[in-house]
Amino acid sequence: MIVKDKILNLFGDLGLDFINIRKSDRPDLSDFASTDCLRMAKVLGKKPLDIANEVKEKVSGYDVFESLSVDGPGFLNFKMSQNFWMDCVNELGDGNFIYKEVSPRKIIIDYGGPNIAKPLHAGHLRSAVIGEALKRILKEPGNEVIADIHLGDWGLQMGLVFVGLEEEGYNADDITMDLLNDIYPKYSKLSKEDESLLKRAQNYTYLLQEGDKKLKTLWQKCYDVSVAAIKENYEKLDITFDLFLGESDSEKVLVNLVNELKKKEELTFSEGAYVLEVKEDNDKKEMPPLLIVKSNGAFGYHGTDLATIKQREDDYHPDEIIYVTDFRQNLHFEQVFRAAKKVGVIRKEVGLVHVGYGTMNGTDGKPFKTRDGGILRLGDFIEIVKRAGLSKIKEDKISDTNEKNQLALDIGVAALKFGDLSNVATSDYVLDLDSFTSFEGKTGPYIQYSAVRIKSLLEKVGKVYSEIKFYNEYDLDLAKAILEFDDAFVEAYQKLEPHHICLKAYEIAQKFNTFYHFCHIVSETDEEKKNSWVALSSLTLKVFEKFADLVGFKIVDKM
Ligand code: ARG
Repeated sequence: MIVKDKILNLFGDLGLDFINIRKSDRPDLSDFASTDCLRMAKVLGKKPLDIANEVKEKVSGYDVFESLSVDGPGFLNFKMSQNFWMDCVNELGDGNFIYKEVSPRKIIIDYGGPNIAKPLHAGHLRSAVIGEALKRILKEPGNEVIADIHLGDWGLQMGLVFVGLEEEGYNADDITMDLLNDIYPKYSKLSKEDESLLKRAQNYTYLLQEGDKKLKTLWQKCYDVSVAAIKENYEKLDITFDLFLGESDSEKVLVNLVNELKKKEELTFSEGAYVLEVKEDNDKKEMPPLLIVKSNGAFGYHGTDLATIKQREDDYHPDEIIYVTDFRQNLHFEQVFRAAKKVGVIRKEVGLVHVGYGTMNGTDGKPFKTRDGGILRLGDFIEIVKRAGLSKIKEDKISDTNEKNQLALDIGVAALKFGDLSNVATSDYVLDLDSFTSFEGKTGPYIQYSAVRIKSLLEKVGKVYSEIKFYNEYDLDLAKAILEFDDAFVEAYQKLEPHHICLKAYEIAQKFNTFYHFCHIVSETDEEKKNSWVALSSLTLKVFEKFADLVGFKIVDKM
């Protein structure tokens, strides 16, 4: 915001605070444009053209503008001077380029949401990637952000797993991740063909929730095995949580809440179940009630989410709760949010936000599956990501195997995350690791590669502290793009859309590489020029490092 603030402040000082500016669509002709003279014509009772000419008159003595032209019926187009750009870019100093929140908030962000004992699917991966980036973006300006994985550990899948274990003669000691990965899909399928299996699973779910000791032991083992695997794998992807709570943790709250709601007659008894109506008079679409207690007495997804809101309110008193899931859960969250406000488990002013995303497809255009078409095991997926990274490392570049594997993973993770996050999250995207790992084009490794280029340049020329000046269009263009990073950040932050910073980082990388190509830094004999270019390069590296940190991948040392 440095640039915009500087310009608007100047207009303010000149008594022209009605002027707002936006980036010009013709960067070859001007930097910024304003249509506010047209808007003000009515207010001031003057012709737009006259207002525009008055503005021009007023700013004519200021050297921050290289030119200001009045076009058409009263449009303003400004080109800023080199001195102005120099001031702005030097103000960034050591990387002071990110917006700070004036009134920081406490935000809980709920993402990942893997299910215990039930295999992960590609949607969980997207939730983890997007949620992790949003967590980091929200933290940056100074908010307190609490990340909760919200494990799915309390629903019907548990009952199905218990039936499966029983049918196949396993007990708690036999439970491993591989076993769970086999049991759930098998019995989920069987229960669709055999009603009695389904009934048994529903009953086990109910009994677990009632506190059955034997089932609780089985549950604990499933939980421990799954959580250990989840933690290990997510950490490899640089995805971490502050809280490892889940649906089961809301159990106590839910039991009390249901009793209270029954007493207050907030629940309707319908077909053997207790539901909570959330319809409003002016609803244009179908708004079904929440199913709080199922007809067999068990709680489900509506209930645990409602109770979790109460729990979060009681324990953390947040200003906002953000949920990151597949957009198909939109209705679910709309119902839950309405219910939470309606029955007052959370203050009215707390923001409840659902960030929905589209499907991650494979290169065949269908929802992503692993090669055997089977379920997605996160461990296997990480291997795929790592292999994609490995294919990019030259045979003789690194001899140490551990180092090589780590670098491969770092490249793969950058590829995966940038490939995902550079898209508008609500649209589907195609996971194509081959093109995502390319060192050219809009990819994470391209950013890493550009950063590595700067690192080796800085190694060669040594550190310098110098003011940045401009010598040609390339260094100026790069500086302008860097100055726009903060605007892109603010957009990503306010709209909860990471793609804005991805696209800006890509633009900066392109501009850097053009600059690097045309400005021969190492061989430059004019010391002042050389130092200025080195300083600009080093600032570019800082932006890449900040960016990578915000989306959750590493800037590596060599590639
Ligand atoms: N476990 C859920 C699923 O697999 C996602 C949980 C999202 N968070 C929430 N509070 N409902 O779809």
